[in-house]
Amino acid sequence: MAVLKDNYISPGSAEARQKEINDFKRILSNYFPDQKAFSGKRILNIGCGPVTEEPALNEYFSPSKLVSIDNCEYRKEDAIKNNRKSFVFGDLRELEKILSEKDRFDIIIGRNVPLSPGGTGTYPGDFMRSCTDYKPVTENDMWLGIFRKIKGFCEEKSTMFLTFLRTDEFLRAEKILEKINYSIIKKEENSHLCFSDGIGVAHGTKDHFIILAQ
Ligand SMILES: C[S@@+](CC[C@H](N)C(=O)[O-])C[C@H]1O[C@@H](n2cnc3c(N)ncnc32)[C@H](O)[C@@H]1O
Repeated sequence: MAVLKDNYISPGSAEARQKEINDFKRILSNYFPDQKAFSGKRILNIGCGPVTEEPALNEYFSPSKLVSIDNCEYRKEDAIKNNRKSFVFGDLRELEKILSEKDRFDIIIGRNVPLSPGGTGTYPGDFMRSCTDYKPVTENDMWLGIFRKIKGFCEEKSTMFLTFLRTDEFLRAEKILEKINYSIIKKEENSHLCFSDGIGVAHGTKDHFIILAQ
């Protein structure tokens, strides 16, 4: 017990946030070993929550542009509180209203994308509520449409790096990416543990599965 207590990091604390940033940076170095090849690119970060990963993305890729989008009000508050400069409030279903027609990205990052219909995050901008207050899905699945739109804002040789909490979401992502003609380079269980800061995802670890595609 004493050991557990000594190692305990309070969820939502600066320490927890820093741990997640470090863990995620390790994941990036595993899947983007050629750091130079991806340096200075334009990054779109989808369903970013409080953008805990912003420092990791900035430090690892030194992007020329980083836009992180989420449609959740209280994630926006967290992002502002933590001085996340890349956060843009908006719904991915209306990407054309958030981005300019000329915007183009080289790398798409989506961490713990809530792809499961009726599961986490299906309700617009309300991830936590959807975990605790289940309601039947009444709208058509939005994610294929979202990914089609995202593709319209990508360079032809863009890279997509997505992570998932759950197997069903991981499997669905593969199907969606096939439909929009992305070639899967890697799809696997992520062996690098990433502890959540306790905000973007309530407890435990995240980024359980990954897909890297081009
Ligand atoms: C599981 S959380 C992950 C947050 C963050 N990427 C992370 O890993 O900590 C999923 C996020 O997707 C966002 N989301 C779901 N549907 C969305 C939509 N249509 N437009 C923008 N964001 C959306 C939710 O608001 C939520 O913050």
